[in-house]
Amino acid sequence: MAVQLKSGEEIEKMRVAGRLAAEVLDFIAPYVKPGIATAELDRLCHNYMVEYQRTIPAPLNYAPPGYVPFPKSICTSVNHVVCHGVPGEKKLKSGDIVNLDITVIKDGYHGDTSRMFFVAQPSIQAKRLCEVTFECMWRGIETVSPGARLGDIGHAIQVYAERQGYSVVREFCGHGIGTKFHEEPQVLHYGYPGTGLELRAGMTFTVEPMINAGKADIRQLADGWTIVTKDHSLSAQWEHTILVTETGYEVLTVSPGAPRRRTEAAHTPSGIAT
Ligand code: MF3
Ligand code: CO
Ligand code: CO
Repeated sequence: MAVQLKSGEEIEKMRVAGRLAAEVLDFIAPYVKPGIATAELDRLCHNYMVEYQRTIPAPLNYAPPGYVPFPKSICTSVNHVVCHGVPGEKKLKSGDIVNLDITVIKDGYHGDTSRMFFVAQPSIQAKRLCEVTFECMWRGIETVSPGARLGDIGHAIQVYAERQGYSVVREFCGHGIGTKFHEEPQVLHYGYPGTGLELRAGMTFTVEPMINAGKADIRQLADGWTIVTKDHSLSAQWEHTILVTETGYEVLTVSPGAPRRRTEAAHTPSGIAT
């Protein structure tokens, strides 16, 4: 089936769902400290979603073809875990990096977003990987406008990641999103400019690059979900849900605590706005 364009009413619902997903990350941020188990982060987020937001945690019992039902309400991916980490009793320790991936359903529509968190003090290498991955996500998002193509997004991400000596995970990608968690199109995080589906106003999809410090190869654990780097190198990921607008894009997964990209002024050598 072709990619569906969202109506004005649907877009308004996507805005609400996106904001709520981002607000779960704002809520949980202060709890990401040494000594907390990832299952505890899951429990806190689950209660916040169900009791306070009245949203449905989309991961819980999610079972795409070929998968066992996901047993928890959020994904917690620590260090060399690439994505889909299953919350458990293992405790976070200083120096860990962890991706928390939140997907809520509100009024039938999904909002999907993830961020990297440092547990106390990260190593210089871990910090750099997380920063580069954040920049990869933004470089991909920035290419979005009507008439641009999916390959433009992937290319922007791949070029930046590889220039830093990192690699892009190939097996998982961004995705259309709406009444379904994962819909068409697939949004690859690598590719060639000017190729792939042409973007049109009203499309909603995620951009969620997974970047490895080492090789791109991955492996699935016996739980049927957790994805790790084959070489055990660190991996990072950031995710936003995006709407293609008439003039460019709108980030739907916004909240007061969502980390912002550094302004252009901060990039100038003197730090003075030009
Ligand atoms: N939130 C993930 C994504 O960005 C999907 C997680 S599926 C789950 O697409 F079942 F593991 F939650
Ligand atoms: Co997603
Ligand atoms: Co996600």
